[in-house]
Amino acid sequence: MKDKPKILVGDKIVDEALEMLRAEADVDLKRGIKQPELEEIIENYDALIVRSVPLVTEEVIKRGKKLKVVGRAGNGVDNIDLETATQQGVVVVNTPDSNSFSAGEQTIALMLASARNLPQAHQTVKEGGWGRSRYMGSELYGKTVGIVGLGRIGSFVATRLKAFQMRVIAYDPYIPLERFKRFGVERVETLNELVRQSDIITVHTPKTEETIGMIGKEQFQIAKPGVRVVNCARGGIIDEGALAWALEEGIVASAALDVFSKEPCTGNPLLKFDNVVVTPHLGATTFEAQHRVGTDLARYVLAVLRGEIVPNT
Ligand code: NAD
Ligand code: MLT
Repeated sequence: MKDKPKILVGDKIVDEALEMLRAEADVDLKRGIKQPELEEIIENYDALIVRSVPLVTEEVIKRGKKLKVVGRAGNGVDNIDLETATQQGVVVVNTPDSNSFSAGEQTIALMLASARNLPQAHQTVKEGGWGRSRYMGSELYGKTVGIVGLGRIGSFVATRLKAFQMRVIAYDPYIPLERFKRFGVERVETLNELVRQSDIITVHTPKTEETIGMIGKEQFQIAKPGVRVVNCARGGIIDEGALAWALEEGIVASAALDVFSKEPCTGNPLLKFDNVVVTPHLGATTFEAQHRVGTDLARYVLAVLRGEIVPNT
């Protein structure tokens, strides 16, 4: 009888997904596994499943002599060395569609929370205060929102914000004009044009060499005074040092951040600003998204192990 494949699961995935994996494989669950242990034991496994951590580095992939597939329980694959995986013939699968609704809704929640000072006001009331006049907010209605990256989440956000009667503009040089039209979004030709026109800027690109720091000091210098920014994509797409500078200068009225260049973001200088609203990378953390992410990923990983073709490779 053929041995069952071995799967290492390095972060939390839903029980139903674990059951699916266990039906066809031996599964070791090591939630929060640290890099040195991963490097040491990876040689025993046919498949590895991760979320944002641990990092699936060149070292991990090269040591994974039996490794056939790395599954990313989520969207961004910036924690996986894709080049080495390709060189070593290791398939990488992710679940890019499974958490888009949740990340899009989190973006809008952050936008509203920061425009209306909700976390700050909540805290004041909980501490026995009131402070109605302190927490004057801004409407979304009638404002211009600039979306950087009109992919899955950017387009989801665009269509919802149109219901708020916002003017929605977007910058995305990699998609055809038809896509802008489909979502009723105005295309702007350059990032700086988007920045000049926006009351609120929200970024929805992957983290790549090109997008790291793409909203930086140059952009804050030409932004509308009182601009608000939201980052529910990846830490560092809005340069954190430049954002701190723009907050000090009073250029930025508020920032809402779900993601950070280093996570957890303990000690991040942005935390000291009252007008910075933060969440701990919660974009995909809903029951619905985690259920879809886990079960979709289990199907894809098992398909690779069976030698079948999978859609997200
Ligand atoms: P996607 O691939 O569907 O869309 C990304 C879009 O960005 C594409 O249309 C692409 O053309 C565009 N783009 C790429 N480079 C660009 C550039 N230099 N300038 C302008 N546009 C550019 O991705 P998605 O599924 O919408 O995900 C967007 C981001 O959200 C990713 O970074 C992903 O990792 C992140 N994400 C975060 C969470 C969370 O928990 N906070 C959850 C899911 C996804
Ligand atoms: C993703 O890329 O899917 C998100 O960052 C969410 C996550 O890792 O849970």
